[in-house]
Amino acid sequence: MAYEVIIPAAGQGKRMGLGKNKLFLELDHLPVFIHTLLVFENDPNCNGIWLVVSSDDKKQMSELVKKYAIMKVAALIEGGSERQHSVYHAVKEISDDTIVLVHDAARPFIQTDQIARLTKVAEESGAAVLAVPIKDTVKRVDGDLVVETVERSSLWAIQTPQAFRISILKEAHEKAVVDTYIGTDDASLVERFGQAVHIVEGNYDNIKLTTPEDLYFAEAIVAKRKI
Ligand code: CTP
Ligand code: MG
Repeated sequence: MAYEVIIPAAGQGKRMGLGKNKLFLELDHLPVFIHTLLVFENDPNCNGIWLVVSSDDKKQMSELVKKYAIMKVAALIEGGSERQHSVYHAVKEISDDTIVLVHDAARPFIQTDQIARLTKVAEESGAAVLAVPIKDTVKRVDGDLVVETVERSSLWAIQTPQAFRISILKEAHEKAVVDTYIGTDDASLVERFGQAVHIVEGNYDNIKLTTPEDLYFAEAIVAKRKI
């Protein structure tokens, strides 16, 4: 199932605490965001990559895209102050009637089979996200007091990619701008106007590199995949 992908890479990686964008960190001799781009570069169903970068990182990222011969990067899009703005800058540029995936550059372990399953559901339904069942017990807390234990069987941790028919994603972002609504993912924008969003079960190793300890897990995943 053919698709295009928006890859937001315009963050600052503050929680990683490196003083530079975490996406330049090397895993197995390649920068994190190059790992992510290569998955889509090598997926025959991917027709184009919209890479969103900050003005600070534009030059260096553009050089690395050339160095590693990522040919599907249609354009480098200028990022915004929030992730949602970064995604919207790319959404506005897409004129093809297509399925669009939004995938965080900070999730380098995504695999093609998950993308294919997700894209198929989005093609049939309009909107789908990869997710995994929550493993921890989750409690709602007020200060240091437990208020309630949330029923876990219906809780899923939502990942990217998230896949949408472009018309649905565009309308959702436009409505969010009008309402000055900021969501933590793209699906939340779509849910706001009653569009069904389907869950596609993904893998626990599709982690987002967010805080320093995530790098231990990342090294372990790299080592495991080499076996
Ligand atoms: N992102 C973006 N534009 C922003 C903020 C984030 O394109 N204004 C991208 C990041 O580069 C990352 C993805 O969105 O690939 C997920 O965001 P997150 O993990 O929060 O990364 P950062 O915002 O860079 O990290 P932090 O929140 O710790 O600063
Ligand atoms: Mg962030």
